[in-house]
Amino acid sequence: MAKRRITVTGTGYLGATHAACMAELGFEVLGMDVDAEKIGVLASGRSPFFEPGLTEVLARNVASGRLRFTTDPAELAAFGGAGAVHFLCVNTPQSADSDAADLRYLNLAVDALAPHLNEPCVVVGKSTVPVGTAAAVAERISALAPAPVETAWNPEFLREGHAVADTLRPDRLVAGVASAEAELALREVYAPLLADGVPFLTMDLATAELVKTAANSFLATKISFINAMAELCEAADADVVELAEALRLDPRIGTRFLEPGLGFGGACLPKDIRAFTARSREIGAGPALTFLQDVDRINLRRRTRAVAVARELCGGSLEGKLVAVWGAAFKPDSDDIRDSPALAVADAAAGEGALVTVYDPQARDNAAKSFPHLGFADSARDAARDAHVIVHATEWQEFRDIDPVEAAGWTGGLRIVDCRNKLDAAAWRAAGWTLRALGRPAAGR
Ligand code: UDX
Repeated sequence: MAKRRITVTGTGYLGATHAACMAELGFEVLGMDVDAEKIGVLASGRSPFFEPGLTEVLARNVASGRLRFTTDPAELAAFGGAGAVHFLCVNTPQSADSDAADLRYLNLAVDALAPHLNEPCVVVGKSTVPVGTAAAVAERISALAPAPVETAWNPEFLREGHAVADTLRPDRLVAGVASAEAELALREVYAPLLADGVPFLTMDLATAELVKTAANSFLATKISFINAMAELCEAADADVVELAEALRLDPRIGTRFLEPGLGFGGACLPKDIRAFTARSREIGAGPALTFLQDVDRINLRRRTRAVAVARELCGGSLEGKLVAVWGAAFKPDSDDIRDSPALAVADAAAGEGALVTVYDPQARDNAAKSFPHLGFADSARDAARDAHVIVHATEWQEFRDIDPVEAAGWTGGLRIVDCRNKLDAAAWRAAGWTLRALGRPAAGR
């Protein structure tokens, strides 16, 4: 049998990376998106967003002809032919009017593709979905597709900023399958990764869906746990950074996702814990996940706390104060501003009457579009000019590399809030700065 062909519907952070990486593995790939501008950029071998390493993979595979893009869903089925694997990578954001996931884009993608599936093939969902969605998608496809189609779910665990590496060298591959044919198709697609020893776990559709939401909920819980400890430390004049360091040495606790600070944002963790909670109620398991509401609340309180510390440093009011915010992306090495804690802080400070200037190495354009009332600068230095207080909100390496002695010449205030606990507090204080770090003693040690 000829090598399977692959299509990818939805070319956001997940889909564009997945399409490029599948071509990198040697497959003929066709990516589809309804956004013609995005498709134009991708077809020219460039990435529409900042993701380290992605442009190289895109450029190489577009140039070789293995990777192509279209805006026409009808082309997907014709391109894939018999035995194709059609990946669904559309986003499943939070609904506008509830905590539940909005499955509109997923359903549109299915409705656009399924009627064209004239030959036996496999449709594989990668989007994060409420448990039970894969079974519903399978039914929907069976009703619409002329040929027999298998539906599988293969959740994605990639992190923005590490998307290519996470796709080509994942910790594990999870395959929710309902047939041997679907399992075989996924094993063939991921054969090079399996040969490298990546664990391949097969399970039913519902369990595969749950693996993703459970993983993100666990990660969110870990972050909120350490941020709850930060609240305790603030009340007890203790140091959460030292506390976290000690916790990490217990292998049962583990070393990762215990960075205290401004908490989690982005397109996944916040909406996934809310959608998981909403779904648990729908299926009669609400009490199992009530703790995730606390995880969410602890997380959001870090943003309020950051603004409160900045206010304190400005003498009790932000009205008319110049506030520099270093960072706009929800995390470093990304230009994604969705539910960005940094921008939430900037926005809240502006809401209290501060004149806010934001600088971010990559996310400026995205941020300026969504927050036109904030000021934007072209460098950390320009943002800091004459600022009463600087808020270090996203831990780009660029900010860690700033020399506090030099920075003292940029601004009159010499006040800084380190929301991410990544600046060398002793060095900044020695350079004359009043530095407050979330969860650490105000006076330092
Ligand atoms: C996350 C999951 O890690 C990934 O597996 C899933 O597929 C999608 O959601 P991502 O949103 O790209 O990935 O970012 P991640 O690196 O997980 O960070 C999430 C947020 O948590 C960021 O805002 C980050 O700043 C914050 N974070 C992370 C902390 O505040 N403390 C930590 O210790 C770790």
